[in-house]
Amino acid sequence: MEIIRTVRGLHKAVADARSKNRSIGLVPTMGALHAGHMSLVDRSMKENGFTVVSVFVNPTQFNNPDDLRTYPRTEEADCRLLEAAGVDVAFIPTVEEMYPEPDTRVFDLGPVAQVMEGAMRPGHFNGVAQVVSRLMVMASPDRAYFGEKDFQQIAVIRRMVEIEKLPVEIVDCPICREPDGLALSSRNVRLTPEQRAIAPEIHRALEASLAYAADGHSLRQTVEHVTDTINSFPGMEVEYYEIVDPLTMQPLGEWPSDKAEAVGCVTVWCGDVRLIDNIKYTLS
Ligand code: PAJ
Repeated sequence: MEIIRTVRGLHKAVADARSKNRSIGLVPTMGALHAGHMSLVDRSMKENGFTVVSVFVNPTQFNNPDDLRTYPRTEEADCRLLEAAGVDVAFIPTVEEMYPEPDTRVFDLGPVAQVMEGAMRPGHFNGVAQVVSRLMVMASPDRAYFGEKDFQQIAVIRRMVEIEKLPVEIVDCPICREPDGLALSSRNVRLTPEQRAIAPEIHRALEASLAYAADGHSLRQTVEHVTDTINSFPGMEVEYYEIVDPLTMQPLGEWPSDKAEAVGCVTVWCGDVRLIDNIKYTLS
């Protein structure tokens, strides 16, 4: 594996791979890698001849300076994992290399970026669009891999790719969980043992709501039930629970007809750690 820190170096490695007719897979990450990230890496390696994993804590997507400051940074361990997986390139630029000038672009991301994370974290998705569009131009991948854990982020990236007309296929990958159901997240290391013990209740509440909905409860009742269940655990507080259309991300007022899918997206404060998760409702 080559560790590359400059855009020029990345261009050279990608051009070399292209000259050997290898397809390019890109896996953007902010590091502190875990099995969730590695599932995206494995998928890219299966589907492409050359895989680039970027590790970059992108300052433009943090709307909270403390969150940026405390975000875990574990470069050595990340490189060991990527090397063991057989990745071709770990791209680990500095902030100055990624943004030699401040990025002032404002993307017209539309309604998908205005609800949930977009409403709670102003500027967050614009920052994600800035960095992912740069990475896509730098690595010119055939495919880029994203996890459904950040369900809304995928919709935003699809929109950015459409606006910028980038020739990249976006590949969605399923959520990886701990055996007790907690969605893997770089932020989980910040949970105290007590918080870690109750955090799986988020997924448990979401799972239980599938049966609750199938029992004939309305969408509104289901939203309330999930919210109340999670809030009943001391130290956990739901920031939002919305059941949305999986394409437009717009919150639904009632269950869709005709076996359409709906996705329940939740954000929970577990002490001062913000956890997100989601679940698919397939209605018949
Ligand atoms: P980060 O949080 O590091 O996540 C990188 C990728 O890993 C994202 O696509 C995310 O959805 C995926 N991922 C994280 N946890 C996962 C899990 N438990 N199961 C499956 N996939 C998981 O998301 C970002 O970084 C940034 O916003 C980024 C896209 C890199 C732009 O800076």
